[in-house]
Amino acid sequence: MSVPTGSAPPLTAPASASAEWERKPKTIDANLKDYRAAASTFNWKEVEREFDWSRTGKVNVVHEAVDRHAASRRKHKVALFYTDFERRDEQYTFQDLKVLTSRFAHGLTRLGVKRGDRVATFLPRTPELYIAILGIHRIGAIPVPLFEAFMEQAVLDRLGDSEALACVTTPTLKERIPLDKLPALQHLVLVGGAGSLGTKEVSYQQLIEGSPDWCEPAWLTIDDGLIIHYTSGSTGKSKGALHRQYAMVGHYQTAKWALDLRDDDRFWCTADPGWVTGTSYGIYGPWTLGISSVVIGGRFDPERWYQTIQKYRVTMWYSAPTAYRMLMSAGEAVARRYDLSSLRHICSVGEPLNPEALKWIKKITGLAPHETWWMTETGMQLICNYRSEDFPIGSTGKPFPGTYSTVVDDQGRELPPGQLGHLVVKPGWPSMMQSIWKNPAKYQEYFRIPGWYISGDTAYKDAEGFIWYQGRSDDVIKTAGERVGPFEVESALVAHPAVAEAGVIGKPDEVRGQIIKAFIALRKGYQPSEQLKQEIAEFVKTHLAAHAAPREIDFVEKVPKTRSGKIMRRVLRAWDQGLPVGDTSTMEE
Ligand code: WT7
Repeated sequence: MSVPTGSAPPLTAPASASAEWERKPKTIDANLKDYRAAASTFNWKEVEREFDWSRTGKVNVVHEAVDRHAASRRKHKVALFYTDFERRDEQYTFQDLKVLTSRFAHGLTRLGVKRGDRVATFLPRTPELYIAILGIHRIGAIPVPLFEAFMEQAVLDRLGDSEALACVTTPTLKERIPLDKLPALQHLVLVGGAGSLGTKEVSYQQLIEGSPDWCEPAWLTIDDGLIIHYTSGSTGKSKGALHRQYAMVGHYQTAKWALDLRDDDRFWCTADPGWVTGTSYGIYGPWTLGISSVVIGGRFDPERWYQTIQKYRVTMWYSAPTAYRMLMSAGEAVARRYDLSSLRHICSVGEPLNPEALKWIKKITGLAPHETWWMTETGMQLICNYRSEDFPIGSTGKPFPGTYSTVVDDQGRELPPGQLGHLVVKPGWPSMMQSIWKNPAKYQEYFRIPGWYISGDTAYKDAEGFIWYQGRSDDVIKTAGERVGPFEVESALVAHPAVAEAGVIGKPDEVRGQIIKAFIALRKGYQPSEQLKQEIAEFVKTHLAAHAAPREIDFVEKVPKTRSGKIMRRVLRAWDQGLPVGDTSTMEE
């Protein structure tokens, strides 16, 4: 879809937002001291030298993230601090991770899992999830993490497409895995639970207990698969972005320069490994650097979040605007009950950080969250505001050294400052996805403007070189920072017996950025009612995922479509906002 290129939005944030915003003085103790110098001289080859594989030629991320630390002064350093505030409160050193991931790797090998096979994880955020992912790496298999909130349809789509051979899950979550529809899936590895095991089931505990403490990693090449993350586009079902081992180079350096991680940090990345932030910066970035990570289980809860910072003396915090806004709505009094003074740096990702949320976090912590922009497909942060650099409030940031992002028109020509266009990246950064799993055509779509990777976002650049994110140019929805494809939701909706047609859009929302809104035409014999709305929303919740269920439903006579049958979401958005629908000459009648 083309963007209205050439129009000129304001060059700075609204006056109201920037009025009391002081641009900060240079911080000199940051890892990245001089952005301009780095942007002109930095070379990724320098980073390759930080990895053992640059000398040995033997590649495996588990070696770089775990084993080499376990063989160093970091052997007994805590890699993972974990609590769920109820039953578990645990710590794992790099040595512990080496042993546990080795044992798990042996277990997988006994099941017949081999290099290159896909192994899914479908687990709550627990230490076992991290051990499983690293254990899968150890044998050279490819992890496919599934977010624990997925319901049957979402699980089926992802396990089916990736043809995972095994899935590590729990007795509760396994109920959502339709084994009979997944011919490739041979093993369910069950974490916890004491009941008897069914066919294809094995116990995680037994795998771990019966195995030796050391398993040499499978030695791979830098082009071998690292991980598949499923993500949503504006059309079709979710697609698997496959990353390669070399991506670790990008994770490492961005964790060092954008997150500004240091050896003595306690780093808290709040993202779940079901999403790319939870692996790139919940696993690969911090652990290739040998840094202590904090992980908490359970649902979002303001008190627990502040308590986490206080309990672990978190120094670096990486979270998302919706979370900051939810903390904001819990009020200042709650924040003031906790000691947040350990923090020294905060970053944000997933959706634009609005000035109000930024200022509020600054008020309670003394620190302004710094933007990081990137995508599942990019694997690493690409546009950031840096700790050592001054930045205008509301801006997305500048290209990470050694990468180049810019704003272009439909033909790929760079636009002058102030003009709205496609946000694109010059291909070739270290953690660029290698392919879309089993879907080369989809992969090609990202490169349809020659010379550029097309993000699907719109933006403009200002005269100082800051990029300002402006929105999506397609129909992808960002709700509470999570990426949802309208097609997936529409498919779930039409599976409900009352629904004849459904069209789904993202509707602007103060706290969540966007919420999912559905327009539904009912089948004959069904009457619109509040109760039916609830029933339909519940249906999506239980089949797809709670976060993908519509929070608003409008019943309509007909869902507007083009003559070729494409849903005209532009018209739905206009209806929703009570605006004129514009040109409808392509609409079916
Ligand atoms: C989309 C990618 C990989 C990070 C988690 C999200 C939006 C991401 C920002 C930001 C404004 C942002 C974009 C992007 N986005 N970061 N700092 N400011 N928008 O990854 O789920 O693949 O979503 O998230 O629209 O295209 P994702």
